[in-house]
Amino acid sequence: MADRRVDPDDGAAYTWEEFSAFYKGKYKRKAVEEYWEECKPVKKSKAKDKAKGAGKGEPKAKAKAKVKAEPKAKAKAKAKARKPPGAFKVCVCGGAGGIGQPLSMFMALDPNVKELSVFDLNIAMVPPAGVAADLGHLDKKSEVKGYVVEVGKAAVTELDGECLKGCSLVLIPAGMPRKPGQTRDDLFKINADIAKGLVEACAKYCPEAIVALIVNPVNSIVPAMAELYKKKGLDPMKIVGVTTLDCVRASKFVGQMTGKNPNFINVPVIGGHAGVTIMPVFSQDKTAATIDKDKIEALDKRVQDAGTEVVEAKNGKGSATLSMGYAGARLGRSILAGLAGRRRVECAYVKSDITDLPYFTSKVVFGESGVQKVLPIGELNEYETTRLEAAKTALKIEIETGLKYAEANELNC
Ligand code: NAD
Ligand code: LMR
Repeated sequence: MADRRVDPDDGAAYTWEEFSAFYKGKYKRKAVEEYWEECKPVKKSKAKDKAKGAGKGEPKAKAKAKVKAEPKAKAKAKAKARKPPGAFKVCVCGGAGGIGQPLSMFMALDPNVKELSVFDLNIAMVPPAGVAADLGHLDKKSEVKGYVVEVGKAAVTELDGECLKGCSLVLIPAGMPRKPGQTRDDLFKINADIAKGLVEACAKYCPEAIVALIVNPVNSIVPAMAELYKKKGLDPMKIVGVTTLDCVRASKFVGQMTGKNPNFINVPVIGGHAGVTIMPVFSQDKTAATIDKDKIEALDKRVQDAGTEVVEAKNGKGSATLSMGYAGARLGRSILAGLAGRRRVECAYVKSDITDLPYFTSKVVFGESGVQKVLPIGELNEYETTRLEAAKTALKIEIETGLKYAEANELNC
């Protein structure tokens, strides 16, 4: 298991590989190595802490830290001047739906949210104005407003610009969920058009916002929308695929298996978000790495099939909504924290060059401009190395579906 240390700059834990990749080009390797030595290892016992502290030349360490901290502190101060924390506008498209409602609630609770737009169609199970009125009574600073568009009409022309204008983050759980027997891929035809209609409106009203796509099939919709953004001259890195639920599930299942608290488990899940493309990297989490090798395949399969587990249990009445609301909000909060100058690392499905595929889920550093750095996969064991090939083979086909859609379409805005 790789040693992880906490970067005091943002309080997040990194492996050496992630850490050095992040600082590469900013500082000399030797300086990065020295800084790494100053970072506290994760979950180090107090006894060890003391022993190491005693052996260290403290004034030297402090001096180094000061020299190193300076440029970073400056960058941070600059970022903070650009965007004060706690003043972001967020929109949830499909905000009155199964995921949309809990997701809107979690976002309304985030201290970084100043204004929340809840947008949905007039056929939603609850009018978005009702969801907004309800959330508007929470004793939080966020102001919540509802927006509605008639089904069949285009958001880009019908939606009041006020809904999206000024948004820093747009979360999109709008779209059809699976029924038992369906694959996520079966949803592409209907959901790609829904996503396109909403992305079009984002391109017009808030082209600088991070657009986090929850709508399935994520593996194809994200490349489709990112390439459409690119075609329009916009930044495809603003389009982010939400795969956080896979990480949440992997950590939960590892907690159940080991009897450990999942709060302290963080299994990265790479690849994509469907079947075999969902690839938990158990070897990179300290707790998960203790699980017997012969149990890993079944655990891996459980994470891959977790969405189907919920679809079947809901028996034709939808897919994961509450756990997805929770997971989507975890990513949403991290994105806003990053925009506010407090970097966060989360797995997400984005345009990427860390493998031979153009889109891939891996750890991503979210910072002042959104996706700040796509981190490398890191070390894999033998089982994971083989699994990666299977994940990539399946993912490649689903990416191609998205790329073809982008070739055949364009954003009308
Ligand atoms: P739902 O049917 O309960 O809610 C979808 C909402 O979107 C509805 O309120 C609907 O009116 C609205 N909507 C549809 N078209 C719209 C449009 N053009 N503009 C605005 N709103 C629109 O579905 P759900 O359970 O919330 O799931 C939503 C999507 O999220 C599905 O595609 C599902 O597969 C996906 N999902 C993804 C993940 C993930 O991990 N990425 C997890 C769970 C579900
Ligand atoms: C999930 O993983 O729960 C979602 O992708 C919904 C689904 O269809 O499984």
